[in-house]
Amino acid sequence: MSSSLQDRYANALLGVFGTPQRVLERGKGAHVWDTEGREYLDLLAGIAVNALGHAHPAVVDAVSRQWNTLAHVSNFFATEPQIRLAEKLLALSGAPAGSGVYFGNSGAEANETAFKIARRHGGPQRDRILALEGAFHGRTMGALALTAKTTYREPFEPLPSGVTHLPFGDLAALEEALDERTAALVLEPVQGEAGVRPLPEGYLAAARRLTREHGALLIVDEVQTGIGRTGEWFAFQRQLQGPDASGDLPDVITLAKGLGAGYPIGAVITVGAAVSGLLTAGSHGTTFGGNPAAAAAALATLQEIEDAGLLAHVRTVSEAITDGLAALGDERITAVRAAGLLIAIDLAPDETAAPGAPVAKRAVEAALEQGFIVNAVAPGTLRLAPPLILTAEEAAGFVAALPAILDAAGQAATPAGPREGEQS
Ligand SMILES: Cc1ncc(COP(=O)(O)O)c(C=O)c1O
Repeated sequence: MSSSLQDRYANALLGVFGTPQRVLERGKGAHVWDTEGREYLDLLAGIAVNALGHAHPAVVDAVSRQWNTLAHVSNFFATEPQIRLAEKLLALSGAPAGSGVYFGNSGAEANETAFKIARRHGGPQRDRILALEGAFHGRTMGALALTAKTTYREPFEPLPSGVTHLPFGDLAALEEALDERTAALVLEPVQGEAGVRPLPEGYLAAARRLTREHGALLIVDEVQTGIGRTGEWFAFQRQLQGPDASGDLPDVITLAKGLGAGYPIGAVITVGAAVSGLLTAGSHGTTFGGNPAAAAAALATLQEIEDAGLLAHVRTVSEAITDGLAALGDERITAVRAAGLLIAIDLAPDETAAPGAPVAKRAVEAALEQGFIVNAVAPGTLRLAPPLILTAEEAAGFVAALPAILDAAGQAATPAGPREGEQS
């Protein structure tokens, strides 16, 4: 980034995101360009957000038309795009009659809403919420209480009380923790920020059965995994509705990221009339949530995912990437985990690494130098969350470049700059 923009950024914005890697100016499809005219293949998509890439005509047209018609009205009034979007989300999730949708503006806000639903479920007697170790549910106070990472939590304590984090994937621990005081279990079907970690086979179906037996809600956070990212509309569908599963549904589903393909929107789906009745008139609200402009962006996104057959495309390109990475036979790649186009690449620790320069961060900088945007989700792990429209050819270009990126990362003496934590 040019030094004058870097200085202006540092002087004008809070430093919570560290030093930005580049200043980006425009995008088209899966490509973006920085202010110095350099082109990048965007394999992060604004952290799993730009489902249709950049400047997709379907979203541009829908938002432009809606802005020219009616962009915002407050929730004192209804609009047709908002109603159509709620109906569409209910249909895609398979939620029965009596279910409902609440719109907000982000993933954290969707999870705040789910937290309040959990508080209302069972009243003061059910004052406990279970979450999982490794969980990431957002940075606002309620969402942070559900998030596991102590370095994110501790500076802001006291957080809303009653949340216990259970060992990841441990059904015995879940069975032991569930009791008549448990209001809800909150989990991600695939933990994104923990390095693309899917729940073990059978865990979600068992959690569904156990939460129901104990009268607790099952809240599934699909903020990162929802809207086609894993090759299904929702990741829970493969885990709860696959051939050996019960065909069941969670009680609450939270969404954001890919839903608006870049237009900020979050959503909460409440399944069935009982859960949908927990938040009543006046008990929750938002100024912007579900405004017609955001709803139009989301409707266009869902329509395009359907029309372009992107769920099957995600599965095909995901397989091409994992096969391609395996075919490299590069021993610096120690593991690959893929849930559709949410992919983690574990890198072998590098003995030559300078202190404070984890291998994944150096690989991110080396990738940028070679024209690829990827993310260091952990010190030794790269994450890819590209647009769902990424072509197999574009993906192959990255796979072919990865050995040279890792070579360059091995040579880099210093990291790009202080970048504490993840930008989520
Ligand atoms: C699973 C999950 N939940 C919630 C959030 C928070 O979403 P937002 O950053 O839109 O508040 C994220 C963001 O990374 C996420 O991955």
